[in-house]
Amino acid sequence: MDKLVIQGPTKLKGEVTISGAKNAAVAILPATLLIDGICKIENLPNISDVRTYCKILETLGAKITWFSDNEIEIDTRNIGCTQAPLDMTSRFRASYYLLGALLGRCGAAEVGIPGGCNLGARPIDQHIKGFEALGAKVDVAQGKISAKVKKLTGTSIYMDIVSVGATINVMLASVLAEGTTTIDNAAKEPHIVDVANFLNTMGADIRGAGTDVIKINGVKSLHGDTTYSVVPDQIEAGTFMLAAVASKGDILIKNCIPEHLDCITAKIVEIGGTVEDLGDSVRVSMNKRPNKAIVKTLPYPGFPTDLQPQMGVVLSVADGISTINESIWDSRFQYTAELNKMGAKIAPQGGKTAVFEGVKGLVGSQVCATDLRAGAALLVAGTIANGETHLYNLQHIDRGYENIEEKFRNLGAKIQRVSEPDETMCDT
Ligand code: EPU
Repeated sequence: MDKLVIQGPTKLKGEVTISGAKNAAVAILPATLLIDGICKIENLPNISDVRTYCKILETLGAKITWFSDNEIEIDTRNIGCTQAPLDMTSRFRASYYLLGALLGRCGAAEVGIPGGCNLGARPIDQHIKGFEALGAKVDVAQGKISAKVKKLTGTSIYMDIVSVGATINVMLASVLAEGTTTIDNAAKEPHIVDVANFLNTMGADIRGAGTDVIKINGVKSLHGDTTYSVVPDQIEAGTFMLAAVASKGDILIKNCIPEHLDCITAKIVEIGGTVEDLGDSVRVSMNKRPNKAIVKTLPYPGFPTDLQPQMGVVLSVADGISTINESIWDSRFQYTAELNKMGAKIAPQGGKTAVFEGVKGLVGSQVCATDLRAGAALLVAGTIANGETHLYNLQHIDRGYENIEEKFRNLGAKIQRVSEPDETMCDT
């Protein structure tokens, strides 16, 4: 099992290029099942979730050709199976998109109950409500979810909560349905828009993605023979923006969409940093200790929960007492126990709020990535801490960040991946 050994402190300086968005990629890959043809996808992040998804698609009959680390061709003309391998699908969250895509393509789907990061309860009742409204029968039993339908028929669906996954899943299921489907109270994240753009490029008729009402006019079929490039990763860009602030550095973040980063920019400016919008890049710099702040995570365009731990690192060294309120997940403060091992003074108040008493600096320690974004946050903490940090449980980070240590090394971080015997792994 690998660990990262990080020598700090370092002021991160230089340029970094952002990869394609993980949460768009893991929806676009299953969306290819709706196409009876061949399509090419570019700017695909080379991360373990994407590689796993490609293997799952192959077991369903897709033929995948890799042209480079970030470019593939998928031939979905011979999809012959509606049962996705349970061991692979129950390992990660985004496997739930196979339900919408296979229902749309074949009228049946079976996947393992989705796993993923442990962030508290992760129900999928809104996905199921959407499929049932479109006419499907859904069963959840013995560790798997099965769905079946004779004919999907468009309808109006009101989402009781704003859900990224349910919005995309219903979109996938309704693209080939008969008639019009309306999703009210839809999620508006950039990856929702990206999945809709991908499907529309292939011949779908989806309108309103990026607003809270999405209309999907069912079409008879989707065509292939098209190339699509995945949107830059908002969360990876935000991670490097916050790394610049935490390390009192200066980073040019290339290949990003500044508009997607507005809520992060606003917080960075509030705490004393500088953000320059350069069109397809942003430059973030900080030359003092951050000011304290109050942060509340919200669905897009609010402050993203997936940047909450990285913001937590910034506030752990801010001047004064800060508060973070996590409104999406019940259990996203597990990283604070690890940061406290590094000298932070963070007091979680139940699952949803934590109080950060800013300290002057962090010290290197042995810490464990408790989930994907916690891992990225602890990596940033290691680069700003005095001394040596050993960061374990890298499988979480590798699920969602492409070449993360190389990207940090290029910014001046002293960071090495080394192999470690299994008994030193964290127990999370
Ligand atoms: N929820 C329900 N019922 C549902 C679906 C969701 O109650 O049927 C609740 C959840 O429990 C949560 C809230 O609604 O409290 C929002 O969940 P959402 O469905 O939006 O989350 P998700 O689709 O499971 C995606 C990302 C997460 C990200 C969230 C919120 C993917 C594969 N995952 O999850 O990303 O935190 O949206 O933005 O897109 C990450 O990348 O590290 C990550 C965890």
